Amino acid sequence: MLLARSRRRPDGVQGEFTMALVTYVQHDGARQDVDVPVGDTIMQGAVNNMVDGIVAECGGGLACATCHCYVADDWSEKTGEASEVENDMLEAVSAERKTTSRLSCQITMTEELDGIVIYLPATQF
Ligand code: FES
Repeated sequence: MLLARSRRRPDGVQGEFTMALVTYVQHDGARQDVDVPVGDTIMQGAVNNMVDGIVAECGGGLACATCHCYVADDWSEKTGEASEVENDMLEAVSAERKTTSRLSCQITMTEELDGIVIYLPATQF
């Protein structure tokens, strides 16, 4: 459910943000529901809320592939397709690459993605 919240983000920005729900599912099935500001990436939502399984060594620079995730089948159409550069980077992921594989730093939260489910791989290395 979309929420409007006034808050300070971990990067220091204070303001009112529309928050959308992301459910992160660990490899062992553990689930964590996180409200992520619209405009942030799925990677930022994980890192800022201490969700295990997303390392994001390059901080979203599309240079490390340690933010690999699997988008739930019924959401993959809404997230769009990976760019050519992202596709090249996905060749370097450590866990199995699937048709739903994405780099979470390349998926920006929108209101339409409210409720998205993201599965995390067993490893990023
Ligand atoms: S955080 Fe490095 S490629 Fe996504």
